Amino acid sequence: MTQRRRLVAGNWKMNGLRAARAEFDAMLSGAADIADCELMIAPSFLLVADFAAAAKGGKVAVGAQDCHAKASGAHTGDVSAEMLADAGASAIIVGHSERRTDHGETDETVKAKAEAAWRAGLTAIICVGETEGERDAGQALSVVERQIAGSVPEGATAANTVIAYEPVWAIGTGRTPTIADIKEIHDAMHAQLVARFGGEGEGMRLLYGGSVKPGNAAEIFAVENVDGGLVGGASLKAEDFLAIARA
Ligand code: 13P
Repeated sequence: MTQRRRLVAGNWKMNGLRAARAEFDAMLSGAADIADCELMIAPSFLLVADFAAAAKGGKVAVGAQDCHAKASGAHTGDVSAEMLADAGASAIIVGHSERRTDHGETDETVKAKAEAAWRAGLTAIICVGETEGERDAGQALSVVERQIAGSVPEGATAANTVIAYEPVWAIGTGRTPTIADIKEIHDAMHAQLVARFGGEGEGMRLLYGGSVKPGNAAEIFAVENVDGGLVGGASLKAEDFLAIARA
C-alpha cells in the first residue's frame, strides 16, 4: 500500500489582516519540530506574498483559496494561478463549497481552475461535499462521486492533486459526520480515484474538512483513507492549528 504523507491545511477564508502575520509566525516557530505531517495555510490573496516570504525554509507552506482559470487578461478583480505562484504559493484550494454557492461555480469551472493551478506548477486541492438535504435524502455518496467525476481533470496525479471532502453541513457548525460516515465516503472516493487514475489515484491524498478541532482531529485522522484535514476556524489560531497537526 502506498504511504501517503499527512497534510493539514488551514483555510483562513475571509479572515486575517496584515497583523495576522504574528499568528502565522507563531505557527512557523511552533511547527519547527513537526516531522510527520505537511502543513499549509491559505490566507487571503493579500497575505500570500508576505506569508510565503516569511515561510521560506520553514515547515508551513502557503496556499491560496481560489484562482481564475486563465493566466491573465481582462478579468476585473480576479487573480490567476500564475500570479499566486509568483507570490510564492505552492497550492490552490479550488471548488470550495462557499465558492460553489456564493459564486455559482460548477464542476466545469472547478475543473478548469484545477488545471490552471497545474499550469502554474501548483497543487490543486479540489473540494467536494454534500449538503444536508442531500445527505438526508441518502445522496451523499452519489453527490460526492459526481463532483469528483466532474471536478477532477484528466492528468491528476498523486503529486498535483489533493481531494478534500467537506460536507457542507459540517462547515463552521461544530457538527461532524460519524466516523463510519467519514470512512464510507473516503473509502468510496479512494476507490473511485484508483479506478480512474490507477497508481496515481492510489497515492492521492484525501483530506476531511468540516469542524475539525483539536478535540476531534486524532479520531478523524485515524480513519483509513483520511490523510489529514482541511481546517477553517481552528486554523486561525496557532495553538489550535498546531494541536491539530500533532493529533
Ligand atoms: P471549519 O473548520 O470552520 O468548519 O471550516 C471547514 C472548511 O470549510 C475548510 O475549508
